[in-house]
Amino acid sequence: MKLSLAVLGSGAGSNMQSIVDAIESGELDAEIKIVVADNPGAKILERAERHGIESMYLDCSPWKTKLEGRAEDELIGMLKERGVDVVVLAGFMRIVKPKLLSAFPNRVLNIHPALLPAFPGIESWKQALDYGCKVAGVTVHFVDAGTDSGPIIVQKAVPVLEDDTPQSLHARIQTEEHKAYPEALRIIASGAFKIEGRRVRIGI
Ligand code: GRF
Repeated sequence: MKLSLAVLGSGAGSNMQSIVDAIESGELDAEIKIVVADNPGAKILERAERHGIESMYLDCSPWKTKLEGRAEDELIGMLKERGVDVVVLAGFMRIVKPKLLSAFPNRVLNIHPALLPAFPGIESWKQALDYGCKVAGVTVHFVDAGTDSGPIIVQKAVPVLEDDTPQSLHARIQTEEHKAYPEALRIIASGAFKIEGRRVRIGI
């Protein structure tokens, strides 16, 4: 089934770019209906414009760390008007609340730069490095009411190298992120998966 996506971000938009590239190369049967950023200067908006994708800044004030109230209602309305069926969080630095989740049940996805459940929260690549992990990675998961806690769709691991800095490790993880999000969306588009408790069973 062809997916109608909305991508929400706050920053560079490299994950959005990887999804655009997968669509344009025919590897993913989807269309990005709209890109929304909570920061007017976010590069993700420029990238969307370059690809002729509708993009907009959503003023989420007075909240600094969550999407709630007027902005949440406005967003849900816009996504429904455009027939969006999957909401893709790609570097969106806000907590999404139950109203958005119940408007798109089991259809809000997030990417987190760690092998969850290890290292939820911010700068998780740095947390993994400081902890002394030998392996780090990325997780794409369904979003639930918790933080970085929903059922896992795809994970990819990378080694932590002896001379890694937070930046070099993050860059290695990002290379895998750019494969993981298109892969997760292909699974959703295939419809061949079941959520059973915490397990996302793929291919059935
Ligand atoms: C990525 O590292 C993602 O895992 C995290 O935020 C970053 C977003 O990067 N949630 P980009 O804006 O997609 O380049």
